Amino acid sequence: MEENNVLLRMEDISKSFPGVKALDHAQLTLRAGTVHALMGENGAGKSTLMKCLFGIYSKDEGHIFLEGQEINFKSSREALDHGVAMVHQELNQALKRNVMDNIWLGRYPKMKGLPFVSEKQMYADTMRVFEELDVHVDPKMVMSKMPVSQRQMVEIAKAVSFNSKVIVLDEPTSSLTEQEVEHLFRIINMLRDRGCGIIYISHKMDEILRISDEVTIMRDGQYIATRDARDLTKAEIIRLMVGREMTNQFPPKLDVASDEDILKVENLSAQYSILTDVSFSLKKGEILGVAGLDGSGRTELLENIFGAATRRGGKIFKDGAQVANKSPKEAIANGFALVTEERRATGIFGILTIRENTVISSLKSYLRGIFLNNAAMSEATDRMIQAMSIKTPSQKTKIQSLSGGNQQKVIFGRWILTSPDILLLDEPTRGIDVGAKYEIYELIQDLAKQGKSVIMVSSEMPELLGVCNRILVMSGGRLAGEVDADHTSQEEIMTLAAKYV
Ligand SMILES: Nc1ncnc2c1ncn2[C@@H]1O[C@H](COP(=O)(O)OP(=O)(O)OP(=O)(O)O)[C@@H](O)[C@H]1O
Ligand SMILES: [Mg+2]
Repeated sequence: MEENNVLLRMEDISKSFPGVKALDHAQLTLRAGTVHALMGENGAGKSTLMKCLFGIYSKDEGHIFLEGQEINFKSSREALDHGVAMVHQELNQALKRNVMDNIWLGRYPKMKGLPFVSEKQMYADTMRVFEELDVHVDPKMVMSKMPVSQRQMVEIAKAVSFNSKVIVLDEPTSSLTEQEVEHLFRIINMLRDRGCGIIYISHKMDEILRISDEVTIMRDGQYIATRDARDLTKAEIIRLMVGREMTNQFPPKLDVASDEDILKVENLSAQYSILTDVSFSLKKGEILGVAGLDGSGRTELLENIFGAATRRGGKIFKDGAQVANKSPKEAIANGFALVTEERRATGIFGILTIRENTVISSLKSYLRGIFLNNAAMSEATDRMIQAMSIKTPSQKTKIQSLSGGNQQKVIFGRWILTSPDILLLDEPTRGIDVGAKYEIYELIQDLAKQGKSVIMVSSEMPELLGVCNRILVMSGGRLAGEVDADHTSQEEIMTLAAKYV
């Protein structure tokens, strides 16, 4: 054993892709029985460093030691067999197969003395792990039928089933509710108590400070610092991540809302969700926030306006005229756009380029006669790359080679370019680093300045208070109240959010 319980040591790791030096002498030291946060801006190299550990990418340079022994895994299976597991940012599971297949794939328990898989044994083994983790999922459930959060739990259970010593969680909470996050943290604490080392990648500063013992910060593929989490403040982390002082998290507040209503929603209720009897109006140039607890109907409200869910009742008026918005297609034609919460799952054409992914929803505006104007598409794409500092060697790069956060920015840009009159945003800055968040707020403000209107759902209260003019508060599927963002407090919003719970 090395000194101070060192479990894993990564030294001088470098890795280049065509046009990008993704890792430039990066390093990381993980101790047994600790949670080690890995932080950095979108594209800093966090996921790549972990993929080098797992043999998903082969490193160009550097050394990796597991309990003092140099290792060089060639596949994630080899890593798993050595007790090193990873829950990926992009879950890659066999969705058509069931839960236990996904956990035991490639190492099915056999019937005694026979070459047949013992389903019974597999079921029992799965239940044993689930009970240990307090996970309530049917081992026979088909993966595609489960929400992302449960699929993630299955992935964690798989890591545990291999008796892993090192577990990497790459942005594990981006699609979890608050209760699910608590559950995950209980599991992490249990694993830490057993002596596991956990590498935790996230952009959520509060979670990092809560769960981690040590923090390593990367920038542009390079190692910046490792600190004891107790000695760190949010401001310090941000400074180390972006390499400069970031005095403001939000651009100056904008108030360009006109007196004119662009949208009126009357008594909107959903057929298959808890959304009930919601009425409100939206002004031209207004940035309207929607607050509420998980499950309060915020996402459902946006989906219903956009025609992506079945309505039970209610009316929608745009510019005074009633619109049906029975389908997303119709809503888009009526000048609406929705940027969903699950951008990565629903919006990415992996093998297409950044340019194609950017312009795909606004192709009509680049038509010159029957031809697409390449120069115009290229100009628009460049504008989005600049506006959000999308980290890419070129716009001809395939989107799947971008970092997770940068993929999200491309999808965001796609909807901005459709130049909707009403832009519906569900958790617009999820998975996005602090610097890029600022840029996204500016893009939202630019739209407002052009007289467009924005409705923005967010779980981050400071974001709603920092960017919006007015905030609707949802509770139990209903509208619990409405507050002026400049004259309210987190307490007032929380009180409203609990009104019908
Ligand atoms: N397969 C690949 N081909 C080409 N470039 C890649 C590939 N994988 C990663 N990169 C590049 O390496 C850099 C680091 O990406 P990485 O995914 O490690 O970032 P990250 O820190 O995980 O960011 P995020 O917070 O957005 O997930 C980026 O510039 C990315 O575009
Ligand atoms: Mg990543």
